[in-house]
Amino acid sequence: MQTRKWWKESVVYQIYPRSFYDSNGDGIGDIPGIIQKLDYLKELGIDVIWLSPVYESPNDDNGYDISDYRNIMDEFGTMQDWEQLLEEMHKRGIKLVMDLVVNHTSDEHAWFVESRKSKDNPYRDYYIWRPGKEGKEPNNWESAFSGSAWQYDETTGEYYLHIFSKKQPDLNWENRNVREEVYDMMKFWLDKGVDGFRMDVINFISKVEDLPDAPNPHGVMFVSGSKYFMNGPRIHEFLQEMNKEVLSKYDILTVGEMPGVRPQQAIDYTGEDRNELNMVFQFEHVDIDSGPEGKWDLRPFDLIRLKEILSKWQEELFEKGWNSLYWNNHDQPRIVSRLGDDKEYRVKSAKMLGTLLHMMQGTPYIYQGEELGMTNVRFKSLEDYRDIETLNMYKEKAEAGKNHEEIMRSIYVKGRDNARTPMQWDASEHAGFTAGSPWIKVNPNYMEINAENALKDKDSVFHYYKKLIQLRKQHEIIVYGKYDLLWKEHPHVYAYTRTLDNKQLLVLTNVSGYPQTLQLPDEIQPKSEPEILISNDQHQPFSRELTLNPWEARVYQYSI
Ligand code: NOJ
Repeated sequence: MQTRKWWKESVVYQIYPRSFYDSNGDGIGDIPGIIQKLDYLKELGIDVIWLSPVYESPNDDNGYDISDYRNIMDEFGTMQDWEQLLEEMHKRGIKLVMDLVVNHTSDEHAWFVESRKSKDNPYRDYYIWRPGKEGKEPNNWESAFSGSAWQYDETTGEYYLHIFSKKQPDLNWENRNVREEVYDMMKFWLDKGVDGFRMDVINFISKVEDLPDAPNPHGVMFVSGSKYFMNGPRIHEFLQEMNKEVLSKYDILTVGEMPGVRPQQAIDYTGEDRNELNMVFQFEHVDIDSGPEGKWDLRPFDLIRLKEILSKWQEELFEKGWNSLYWNNHDQPRIVSRLGDDKEYRVKSAKMLGTLLHMMQGTPYIYQGEELGMTNVRFKSLEDYRDIETLNMYKEKAEAGKNHEEIMRSIYVKGRDNARTPMQWDASEHAGFTAGSPWIKVNPNYMEINAENALKDKDSVFHYYKKLIQLRKQHEIIVYGKYDLLWKEHPHVYAYTRTLDNKQLLVLTNVSGYPQTLQLPDEIQPKSEPEILISNDQHQPFSRELTLNPWEARVYQYSI
């Protein structure tokens, strides 16, 4: 039997504050801006907000490089603003999950400023320092943001490890003081009333001893799942310790971002007898269109492979762990551009993709603008891009002789700025995001795609997402039912059932722009007249032979 938990029954909405809503005209979204839009989110019906980092930061990686964990970044507002946000959210029955970025800090964090001063500084061992090897880096690891993962520091003549940018030095979790500092800081926020943490690359915090060379460092980061710093030797010990000292004392939601994690490991991270985390963000389904060289090495999207991956997660975690469900976040291209048709069938395919995900088992996450069917962006000039990962990659590839068009093509498909263009609120200048000049340009399609239009149009993606959220509240089968895949080998249809006691849902989606005709398999044997729960097309009577229109999604419910 599965235990019932509020975080299993919730829908989470992610806010990337820089791009959400600017209240003071400086071109950067802020906390008072979020407060002004809470009623919009209440209308959508979400239960929890995951707020990307709002802590003090020099913004090398837009807040994922934190220089003070206990203060709010000036550009976003003050601690009073943050407290007001929490109060206004709680008043509306919305919970707040904060981002916890503790694999690394900013190089401007006071600990690192001390650490780099001398080899015997008390903070030296807070980070991972090594002498060079024969005048070169200590090993061949590559940073996720291009180049070596090591930075030479002249003051002491040693290198420090940074899996991300050189302004994001990795913390040394082997050091007990580091762990205690992190736990204290977590309690600081929990005691202020936050309802959970999304933990940034938390499966990176334990590195293998001796930090050996990797056999294939290139692209090692997110595709091949490096055994050197992902799911390392002490990871479970650290998370259990964190759980014992902090998490277990509060009724909160915890989700660990974990590149390279597989279902069996996720069971260890999320199993209820394990006392670690509630759920993880796995990456297998969003890495599906990446080749062996990493995310920029584009591969075509394959629906059969997607079914294999998502079904494996659904089946293996059933009654053993808990899934998180997501298509989008601030690191991923927009799903309607990636798997749907962001032109003629934008609205319809966005709804289909929402259905496909929200009818699965797990806690769904909606990324800002996904509920509007926001799309990828194509800026002509590299100068309009802001993301450090994109800019570093461009430089590295251009220096290696790759041509401009080819590099831009991969940015259009995979760049993180696709997700980071400002939220499109209305058809006024800069999509109503700011009265000033936005820190990153707005997607030019904002005249058509914006929240004001979506709220007015009862057939919008917004209203459809609202319904998906409501259905989850009304039907416990969506939360707790068992998942079974149908037509495993069908190249264009993704269909499955969910079963709880004597009830069943039949979820049918056409992931293509062509009609698809299906004959229901014998195991589908409704004992009551199937009723439509939701559909993005004209309602069709149930029959054993049925044709799905382009990008159609339908969900039937019946007894068995
Ligand atoms: C994952 C975050 O989601 C991403 O935005 C960030 O760049 C890296 N972790 C490093 O913190």
